[in-house]
Amino acid sequence: MNKQKLTIIGIGHVGSYVLSDIMKLGLFSEIALIDSNENISKGEALDQLHANPFTFMPNTKVFSGTYQDCADSDLVIVSAGASIVPSEEEKMPDRALLAENSAKIIREIMANIVAHTNNAVLIFITNPVDTIVHIAENEFDYPAGKIFGTGTMLDTARLKRILADKYNIDPKSITAYMMGEHGMTAFPVLSRANIQGFKMSEWKDLFESTEIDQVSIKNQVVQAAYDVFNGKGWTNAGIAQAVTTLVKAVMLDERSVYPVSTTLRGQYGYNGNVTLSMPCIIGRNGIEKQLEIILDEEEEKMLRESAAYIQNIMSSVGA
Ligand code: LAC
Repeated sequence: MNKQKLTIIGIGHVGSYVLSDIMKLGLFSEIALIDSNENISKGEALDQLHANPFTFMPNTKVFSGTYQDCADSDLVIVSAGASIVPSEEEKMPDRALLAENSAKIIREIMANIVAHTNNAVLIFITNPVDTIVHIAENEFDYPAGKIFGTGTMLDTARLKRILADKYNIDPKSITAYMMGEHGMTAFPVLSRANIQGFKMSEWKDLFESTEIDQVSIKNQVVQAAYDVFNGKGWTNAGIAQAVTTLVKAVMLDERSVYPVSTTLRGQYGYNGNVTLSMPCIIGRNGIEKQLEIILDEEEEKMLRESAAYIQNIMSSVGA
């Protein structure tokens, strides 16, 4: 097999968990770590190398790198930037609060990346992720589809978890998406949800529970992030698995369908003026195709509200 290389930029609570999960995939021969504090990337690389001697770990070369490492990377993951901090006064701070700081960081990081590659697939985690992807995708000369964000992958996992608990079923048996913003205005596409082909109208009887209340489910998904933040102070396990799942889809050219953050190019009447999550085929070239799923009237309305909300955040940082 050819050498496969990954670069991770931003080694905080999220970046380090992403590294640890991706190591277990065993898909990379080299992983370069970049952090604005080089001591952190050095320490994290060394710590990870101490895991390698255990029998099930791949002998991946993990090291503290530089932007030069992007040049021969197959994939680059960007998780740099601050995370929201809930407080006594503000238990649910909007991810939009991070926009100004994150936009500045991402413009610098993108300038460094494009100085070395236009070939690697770039996956963004940094919040507010939709605005960040919009900047990366539209302010730099990079091939279409090779840039996307984790978007509502995580909100979707939370939706599946909530439905799974309600109907006492494995979340992996559920097909359902969250679309729109990764954040306050994310919405469930329940008109298309099913449990191994069983339609939503059948769930109540089949799985012996009550009917779904669309508004309550949406609110529970949004709230779920804050339940984690208010408990442990940050989120990392869910987002790390989300990005690991996307990395596997790219490296193995799986052509899996996932909701990721991407600039709309004609879908739902938007053309280049908003970036949000919609289902896409993910393969070796990144986004192989954006899939415009048909929404019902209520969902269409929530899409417009979410798009307007994101556009507001985008314009606050000149994106
Ligand atoms: C969350 C962060 C990643 O929702 O935005 O957990």
